[in-house]
Amino acid sequence: MSTAAAISHPNIAFIKYWGNRNNELRLPSNGSISMNLDGLFTRTTVSFQPSLPFDELIINGHEVVGKGLERVSHILDLIREKAGIKMNAEVMSENNFPSGAGIASSAAAFAALAVAGSKAAGLDLSERELSILARRGSGSASRSIPAGFAEWKLGESESDSYAFSIAPADHWNLADCVAIVSSTHKKTGSTEGHAVAGTSPLQNARVTDAPRRLDICRNAILKKDFEALANIIEHDSDMMHAVMMTSNPPLMYWQSATVEIFHQVREWRANGLPVGYTVDAGANVHVICLGEYKDEVEKRLRACPGVSKVLVAGVGGAAEIV
Ligand code: PMV
Repeated sequence: MSTAAAISHPNIAFIKYWGNRNNELRLPSNGSISMNLDGLFTRTTVSFQPSLPFDELIINGHEVVGKGLERVSHILDLIREKAGIKMNAEVMSENNFPSGAGIASSAAAFAALAVAGSKAAGLDLSERELSILARRGSGSASRSIPAGFAEWKLGESESDSYAFSIAPADHWNLADCVAIVSSTHKKTGSTEGHAVAGTSPLQNARVTDAPRRLDICRNAILKKDFEALANIIEHDSDMMHAVMMTSNPPLMYWQSATVEIFHQVREWRANGLPVGYTVDAGANVHVICLGEYKDEVEKRLRACPGVSKVLVAGVGGAAEIV
């Protein structure tokens, strides 16, 4: 028996990944940039055991079978193949944040699985190899492997589409105040969403324009230009949701409270508060701000109608063995 445990942080995309050019390999249609979220984490233990008749998955104390287990077994298969082993594994995973509500639980989950699983199998993979392995489970998981602010490059093939850190966690003191307006499990997961992205006539324009948005976002991070960052993340998030809403079938993740917060955030920014919004495949709004304003932003979000809870996170480090 051989066991390893890892922790990994979810990440919030500033330039979004939406749509694949290869669904099986999760090769993205466009590059993306994100920030890891400190304080929120997944802790995963993988244990390969000769006596296990099949892989077992336990998330937050509950056994998971079906599609969830299949996705994990797929990554374990890739690890077994690399390591030349045949044993099945027990995977135990715990999140300290609500899953399936636009807080990218799958990103943290597959990053932690890649790190713990490969270590338990006796492999010593580089950060790049771990990012590629995590990507096969969930595209955005590739970005939860490196520390701080990460860019996932498009790449030309399976072996060069991976994420790397463009700045460490202590480069810029930003905070993500996540306004929870819905903690129910979303109806359409991102895997199904990516598969229909190409049915929107807007997707092509979004993908073609991605290098421009990536440059603006990367520069804003490197120069710590908050105004530029706020403008580009809102623009990019709105573009992704425009694609979602105009795909077939149409995906509408926003609730009325989501839109209400957009208006508030823009008004606050116009009045001098450094804030900007972005939304993943869910209704919850990630309000990004300069770290020193996080208490004020949290207080204002709590007072918004429809907000049940606010989670606050700083910039997180890399996925690592614990
Ligand atoms: O990694 P996935 O398949 O869960 O897709 C993530 C998609 C978004 O969260 C909406 C955008 C992103 O880049 O994280």
